[in-house]
Amino acid sequence: MHHPARPRFATTRLLAGLLCTALLPASAFVVHAASPAPATGARAMVVSPHALATEAGIEVLKDGGNAVDAAVAAAFTLGVAQPQSMGIGGGLFLLIRLADGRAFAIDARETAPAAASEDMYQVEGLPKDASRYGGLAVGVPGAVAGLALALETHGVMSLERVLAPSIRAAEEGVALGAYQAALMRRVPAERRARFPETARVQFPEPVMADTIKRQPELGRALRRIAKRGPRAFYEGEMAEAIARAARAAGGVLSVEDLAAYQPRLREPLRGTFRNLEVLSFPPPSSGGVTLLEILKVVEGFDLRGMGAGSSEAIHAIAEAMKLAFADRALHLGDPDFASIPVEALLDADYAAKLRARIGPRAAQVEGSGYAVPDGGTAHLSVVDAAGNAVALTGTINTTFGSFVTVPGWGILLNNQMDDFVADPDGVNLYGLAGRRDSANRVAPGKRPLSSMAPTVVLEDGALRFVAGSNGGPRIITAVLLTLLNYFEWDMDIMEAVSAPRFHHQWRPDRILLEGAHAADVESALRARGHEVKRVDELITGVEAIARDPLTGRLYGAPDPRRDGLARGL
Ligand code: GLY
Repeated sequence: MHHPARPRFATTRLLAGLLCTALLPASAFVVHAASPAPATGARAMVVSPHALATEAGIEVLKDGGNAVDAAVAAAFTLGVAQPQSMGIGGGLFLLIRLADGRAFAIDARETAPAAASEDMYQVEGLPKDASRYGGLAVGVPGAVAGLALALETHGVMSLERVLAPSIRAAEEGVALGAYQAALMRRVPAERRARFPETARVQFPEPVMADTIKRQPELGRALRRIAKRGPRAFYEGEMAEAIARAARAAGGVLSVEDLAAYQPRLREPLRGTFRNLEVLSFPPPSSGGVTLLEILKVVEGFDLRGMGAGSSEAIHAIAEAMKLAFADRALHLGDPDFASIPVEALLDADYAAKLRARIGPRAAQVEGSGYAVPDGGTAHLSVVDAAGNAVALTGTINTTFGSFVTVPGWGILLNNQMDDFVADPDGVNLYGLAGRRDSANRVAPGKRPLSSMAPTVVLEDGALRFVAGSNGGPRIITAVLLTLLNYFEWDMDIMEAVSAPRFHHQWRPDRILLEGAHAADVESALRARGHEVKRVDELITGVEAIARDPLTGRLYGAPDPRRDGLARGL
């Protein structure tokens, strides 16, 4: 089962896919026909959704940095090259797995300001989108503190050195990517008009691929942090400007909130899938718990016998997704504020009980809602020559976050407050249903529940796989399917990342089916009682690395749905 990564040629893959489609009705998809072979590296690998971020990581590795230095350099650069997705105005999670076997989870998630409260969005007269756009949507940013902590504890380079590529990118400018420009064109004109500073800083004309975007004010902020350290973000002139910008846009963020921010060092979540050990991110992310809960349930099915992309496999996995997401809605939240039953949710007997609830037809649950695509998160994966691995997912929540940009500093602030249950009777921007008894209600200083799932997989203690994604709740299912494609269905890592995905998040009660799934798969799922919605793509972007256990060779796969790059050394 655990084959070496096997790069193959696209023509072979296309032929195999076409044969499968022809011979096995309702049982296969055409594996992404255009997917190229993965990048290879004898010693190290960086994969990210932007070439400049990947190059920043490679530059640092060549200069003697380790995987943590490279990940920090790539993350700062990604914040400049893809400011609509992540940056110093947002938060992030780093999962670090060192070659000596130790592992660390750095939680640099945003926190609710001290003046936040459970019913802050239910105030009469407040705009309906107050948790999504404008100052009240902004959580206290954690990215700078988290990256500085990672560097201090596990890097070998100075903050000044790892910031150099991002400062260059901000000052010299970055060409818009095709995916990025398409995402930007989807921003409604009235939102750009409502946030003129963001329109000025973030939308160079024309909004199309190859237009150069310069961000001198953000360059100034990064230079200040490089020179004075992370406290320059949380105290003094920059912190005052951040609080002022959020408050001018109707928010409650204060300089005291910024001064009080602390990243948390947490124990990575550990689970198993067959003979593999899966490390992922603990609460306040739901990513790791929900990923491991689904894996435990589907472990009891003969997925290999069902076949990748078959209606039988999609049905079984989607039912498991539904059950795990229902648990997510009730039980998961910030562990510093609520008791989170992680062990109970990942217990093998509990998984068996959930599995027993999965029959041949879709289980009926109520629900409605909608979901916007997530362009406000990005993932990068790094492995260095010593075998250290970093999976880092950063976010400002949804595309362009709160749309509040800090004048003079070019910092785009997050809208992470919408990841809380802002409206217990409604849904958030991802269509995730609220509930009054959720562990994820707003409280001062609390971290909103995330879906980010930076993940590392080991076999017999040896590194095999590093991955993560953007996509809000779709992160969990994108990482799950990539892992199953690779380990269970023997795809190479590029095929595993490229293959069409599906998603179920309990509410709304429907399967989203991406791209190239065969038409008869859709009808077979409907016949089992599923509502099925076809989407061109799920707006997820998995950036993955696989390691051949025999040769140690690394294979990098950037998601072909985005503008990314994998580079090996
Ligand atoms: N804001 C996306 C997430 O953390 O899940």
